[in-house]
This record gives sequence, structure tokens and C-alpha cells, in this order.
Amino acid sequence: MTTVLPSSRTGTSSSVYASSHDPATLRTHKWRNVANSAAYLVPYLKPDMKILDVGCGPGTITIDLARYVPEGYVIGVEYANKPLTAARELAESEKVTNVQFAIADALDLNKYADDSFDVVHAHQVLQHVPDPVKALKEMRRVAKPGGIIAARESAAMTWYPKVPEIEQWYTLHIKVGKELLGGSPDPGSYIHVWAQEAGFARKDITCTAGTWCFNTPEDRKWWSSVWTQRVVTPRSIENAVDRGGYCTKEDLFNMANAWENWGRDENGWFTILHGEIICRK
Ligand SMILES: C[S@@+](CC[C@H](N)C(=O)[O-])C[C@H]1O[C@@H](n2cnc3c(N)ncnc32)[C@H](O)[C@@H]1O
Repeated sequence: MTTVLPSSRTGTSSSVYASSHDPATLRTHKWRNVANSAAYLVPYLKPDMKILDVGCGPGTITIDLARYVPEGYVIGVEYANKPLTAARELAESEKVTNVQFAIADALDLNKYADDSFDVVHAHQVLQHVPDPVKALKEMRRVAKPGGIIAARESAAMTWYPKVPEIEQWYTLHIKVGKELLGGSPDPGSYIHVWAQEAGFARKDITCTAGTWCFNTPEDRKWWSSVWTQRVVTPRSIENAVDRGGYCTKEDLFNMANAWENWGRDENGWFTILHGEIICRK
């Protein structure tokens, strides 16, 4: 495959990512594919396109994107090496050969030249960087003239039943992401405003919305088991209890318990609304 991928180097970290690429977190991300997380981009894809996937995590969306561009390729980049091992293994086991992974920081994509890619994509990444407008500027810089910058970020979450511990979990998610780490949790309703600050004209930005909805017995079992674990990972305890002082360890275990019960409730329902933007350079 043709590639613009330079030799890998350790990126400078400029992330306010709350999770630690622990197995429970990666398990959430591994469920993601183009159909459930990047369907809004599909109408714009052509078989020979070159795509950069920024903050690709374990690479399941990245690898799936590669299937849409069989005559082109996809490069997935991450500021951390940890999730890339799983990404490379998955690409190999799925026999997807037009994909590569590398270390690069969303705020400094300097290993890539101006005007390199047909599409520059980021899924649930802008909320985790301290300067999302700078990240969008970098994404814009490395896109070809006429190319596309695509981003999707959570905008809101709602669920049933409204048990207090899950309400506390959501409040904690916002506090840790915003107050403690300086990120922008659930910014999906204003990523088009960031895009304008990054240099795009309003007329060149198309906004859509997409949802995830977990309510079948299988989905509830999976989503609840993931959150039962993620609420009490060492990183969660460190952020919420030790650094933030937002709650006690016991509170976190009560939240984990509530997630477990939610999974068993046949009326349990959880939805995430996402904002999506397609920006034309
Ligand atoms: C919620 S995960 C999303 C992963 C993937 N896009 C997906 O949807 O499956 C956010 C990812 O952004 C990465 N990230 C955070 N800050 C970054 C930065 N400054 N540069 C590159 N990646 C970053 C994290 O390491 C993490 O894997």
C-alpha cells in the first residue's frame, strides 16, 4: 500500500483522557464499528480514499473504515501505545491489510504533511483533549483541499430507571472530565462551533445526530458489565476519590452495584445522543 506513515516515535501527550486503556474501557471501544459509530461518514467515502483516524483507540472503527476504501488506506493514530497492540492484532486476525497504526498527538500531527488525506476522522476524541479547536485545526491542516474532516462526540445521555446511583455516576463523569481533567464531556451539541473556530465556514459544515441505544437483554448485559467494571478501575478510584475528592470508594462500589442491577432490569434502557459534523476544507 502507498503510505505517508513515517517511522513511529513516542508522541508528546496532550490528553485529558480519564480512562487508562484498561481492559474494561477497551472492551467498550472494541464494540464500535462504522455502522454503529460512523454511519454519517459512509455516503462520503470512495474506494481509493486515504483516511487518518485520530485517537483511534483499539482500532475497530479504523479497521472497519479500511474495508470501505479497498483501493486506499487508513492510518489510525493514538497518543498512547497501549491500545495500538490490540489494534494491530485485530487488523492481522481480520486480514485487513490497508490499515496501519502509529503514535501521534491530535494536537500536533506534525509527522503528517499539509494536504495529505481525503478524510480526517475522530470519534469521541475531541472531548478528551485540552484544546479541541487546536486538534480540529491540525485535522484541517492535514486534509486535502476539498477533503473532509469528520467528528462525532457524545452530546447527552439519558436512561431508565432513574436510580440515584446512576445519576451520581453521570454527575461524576462530568466533574472528573471537566473540573478535574479540564476536558469537555459530552460536547456533541457544539462541535460545529469549535469547527468554525478552527477555520471552517458555517456553510461548509454539515451537522447530524446519531444514537446508541442499549435495551435488549444482550445489550443490557454487555453495557452493564462494562460499567460495573469501569466505575471501580484503579484509574476511576484515583480520579474520583483520591484526586477529585468527589465521592468515597464505597460510593463507587454502590454505583457499580446499581449498574449491575440496571443490567438485570428488563425495562432498563440507556441512550447516548451524539453530535456529528462533516466539514469540507
Ligand atoms: C473514547 S476513546 C475513543 C477511541 C476510538 N476513537 C473509538 O471510538 O473507539 C478516546 C481516545 O482518544 C485518545 N486520545 C486522547 N487524547 C489524545 C491525543 N491528544 N492525541 C491522540 N489521541 C488521543 C485516547 O487515548 C483514547 O483512545
